[in-house]
Amino acid sequence: MPVDSTDLALEDAEWWKKTTVYHVYPRSFFDSNGDGIGDIPGIIEKLDYIQYLGYETIWISPFTESPQRDFGYDISDYYAISPHYGDMALFEKLVQEVHGRGMKLVFDLVLNHTSDQHDWFKESASSRDNPKADWYIWRDGKGRNGTRAPNNWRAMAGNKAWTYYPERDQFNYTAFLPFQPDLNYHNPEVKEAMFEIARFWLNKGVDGFRLDIVSAIYEDPELRDNPISFRLSPSDQSLSIFFQHLKHNFLHEKSFEFATELRDVVNEFENPKRILIGESHGDEGVINRFCHHEGKNGLHAVFLFKAISTPFRAPNYRNLLMRFEEHFPDPLLPTLVFANHDRNRVISRLGGSVKKAKLLALFQFTCRGIPFTYFGDEIGIPRVRIPLKQGKDAIALQHNWVPQFLVDRSAEILNRDECRTPMLWNDEAYAGFCHTSAQPWLPVAENFKDINVEKQMAEPDSLLNFYRKVICLRNETPALNAGQLEIAHDFCNRKMLAYYRIAGGEKYLVLLNMSRYRLKSPLDNEVLLSTHAQGKETHFQPFEGRVMVAAHH
Ligand code: GLC
Repeated sequence: MPVDSTDLALEDAEWWKKTTVYHVYPRSFFDSNGDGIGDIPGIIEKLDYIQYLGYETIWISPFTESPQRDFGYDISDYYAISPHYGDMALFEKLVQEVHGRGMKLVFDLVLNHTSDQHDWFKESASSRDNPKADWYIWRDGKGRNGTRAPNNWRAMAGNKAWTYYPERDQFNYTAFLPFQPDLNYHNPEVKEAMFEIARFWLNKGVDGFRLDIVSAIYEDPELRDNPISFRLSPSDQSLSIFFQHLKHNFLHEKSFEFATELRDVVNEFENPKRILIGESHGDEGVINRFCHHEGKNGLHAVFLFKAISTPFRAPNYRNLLMRFEEHFPDPLLPTLVFANHDRNRVISRLGGSVKKAKLLALFQFTCRGIPFTYFGDEIGIPRVRIPLKQGKDAIALQHNWVPQFLVDRSAEILNRDECRTPMLWNDEAYAGFCHTSAQPWLPVAENFKDINVEKQMAEPDSLLNFYRKVICLRNETPALNAGQLEIAHDFCNRKMLAYYRIAGGEKYLVLLNMSRYRLKSPLDNEVLLSTHAQGKETHFQPFEGRVMVAAHH
């Protein structure tokens, strides 16, 4: 039976605490009009599928007007839908269709920067004394002729953070790529303009926002140089890149305060309440300040990317849980994120193992926190190798000098095209993503005849059906979707991870054998769900996980 999401009461003010999120990358989900890229009608057509899996919330990567140099994360008009994806009427239909199913829609909001093709920026860049002159971050150069950048800052994408514009004879700052100039939030007009944009979409009925690089909103107004670091490439914990710690241009105090101001904006909207989920890298002990700052509520949740780079081993996952519980105790809530449109595909990180992918799903949907699934991970779409030099992704283009063999060896991707390839719907041409007369914008994974939605729907033991089962169990079990989490230290060891979920009189024990060995089950309690067909045996199979009843009142 498909999960009836209408049971997940829309009026429930705390709906977001129990929700599960499916992340759609619109370009790659389903192409309804035969141009090789996905679109809004394509998403509408596949809503039943997302609901069938049991997800309640859909987060869609940006589809507003954009030159598409960063595929939507470079916005040139916040008030218009890009014709690549549809129009406003189609967007309104999407909202209606989502809500009609008792589901929620989260809109991707890029507040930190616009495209350099946005009218605001064109005006700002045109002279030093136009009405928008101070809407972006401009500074004179240093040195005798003013030809040196104002400071040593690097951007998160690895490039230098400053670009020279002859029209103003000044440098412009960007936290990401040079064509994504940062807005100047020290200017109150900018803040108000962006809050108005948020209100516009909230009035259209969106249930919340995923906030793109919210860690970058403010930077040090004194432009102090960043200190050196010993790290070449960034990690999920530390904001260092190319031997520089991005101390003064990320995670500025005022960005935490900004989160509380934005919370006030979304709080203007009721029935249902709207949510804010922020994208920030950095240590959990620091980024939880986006959620509460100086006694005020900020974002509802923030992505915890550390999970992505945590080795798939019981002790590491135990530590991860302990950190999440320490830094995001109730009423805060962690997030459970293992992939997105910037990162490697889950199955590829797990060496192609479906068993491990099921175990990870069991972990993700039985922990305390908001689980996010990047489209296609529920069927195990793999990383599709695309050489840097053939990349469409701006990061790939920027790094096309990096020797390909280094990239191929790395566990993470540098060419983000590799995780953005089309959804695999069936075994027809282009995996049913687009019409045969079209050419998909990125290649379709070669093994689509073995891995696709239609096939996995028909196989009871498929990865897809396991996702469905575990999401369904979570949706109908208060202890799993809203209960407390306690690590069951007595059952934890180098191979096994164990934790309890508790609500009211209900208590469940989740046991995950994260090793390649058979292990004796420490208990023979009733098993509610196992990753393996014969989940009731005295032994756990390699990489088997089970949800057991620990107490019932
Ligand atoms: C975020 C997005 C990424 C985008 C960048 C700049 O990290 O996830 O896709 O390129 O911000 O907007």
